[in-house]
Amino acid sequence: MGAVRVLILGGTAEARALAAALTGLPGVRPVSSLAGRVADPLLPAGEVRIGGFGGAEGLAEWLAAAQAGGEPIAAVVDATHPFAATISRSAAQAASATRIPILALRRPGWTERPGDDWHRQPSTAAAAVALAGMAERVFLTTGRSDLAPFAGLDRHWFLIRSIEQPPPPLPSRHRLVLARGPFGVAEEIELMAGHRVGVLVTKDSGGPLTAAKLVAARELGLPVLLIDRPPVPDVPSVLTVEAALDWVAALIPGAR
Ligand SMILES: NC(=O)c1ccc[n+]([C@@H]2O[C@H](COP(=O)([O-])OP(=O)(O)OC[C@H]3O[C@@H](n4cnc5c(N)ncnc54)[C@H](OP(=O)(O)O)[C@@H]3O)[C@@H](O)[C@H]2O)c1
Repeated sequence: MGAVRVLILGGTAEARALAAALTGLPGVRPVSSLAGRVADPLLPAGEVRIGGFGGAEGLAEWLAAAQAGGEPIAAVVDATHPFAATISRSAAQAASATRIPILALRRPGWTERPGDDWHRQPSTAAAAVALAGMAERVFLTTGRSDLAPFAGLDRHWFLIRSIEQPPPPLPSRHRLVLARGPFGVAEEIELMAGHRVGVLVTKDSGGPLTAAKLVAARELGLPVLLIDRPPVPDVPSVLTVEAALDWVAALIPGAR
């Protein structure tokens, strides 16, 4: 019998770690799927496919085609970014329609510590409204596809950081920094203090790779507008790569 294929919906460090771990399990072959948002993605180990499926129906058809082609997908792990709500919803629906087991690997959100001055926001739009009463100089790390709500805020100046050039509209007064994490605390403090930033706006992405900006904000005594995660579909979920690996191994006889 050929290796059992596991579809990892990826684009995160956890998805890459899971793909690497699954290539080490006997009889298992991970297939990672990336959205294709960035021109130069960090590629996971093993097979990779890139681009949208065409919604829940498209993903269900892709899974059915794999089955019909003699290379079925035995399980799906949704290890996408916590704010990638559309693909998570599609994955849950497609897995249900095709009766393929699904697991969500969801890293925990960040937790406020003593010294933090966090103001949680239900959405990016709410964060833009909340800025009205806050400092003029803003460090904005919400991702390049979520800048439109800030575009009309002419009283503020924005330091915008994203991996690739954001599409318009952008705020009229801004400086753009193109960079991909991980970032260290010292460099975040230097960046924020150097630009005389007075408030940080970011998403509750969680994870260690981009947490340094929150430590920097604490050390500089700056408030943070932290955007809450969108709702998640009701599928079994785990918090760690190790737990996801155990779940896959338990599904596949002889994997361990
Ligand atoms: N910081 C990060 O590393 C990071 C990474 C990803 C996302 N995000 C954040 O998450 C939010 C939404 O991002 P998003 O547009 O990627 O997610 P999304 O809104 O859930 O996805 C939009 C569409 O992209 C396709 N897609 C997404 N992930 C895919 C995958 N792994 N494989 C194949 N197709 C995929 C799907 O297209 P079809 O419907 O055609 O299948 C999906 O409907 C943004 O706010 C972004 O800032 C951050």
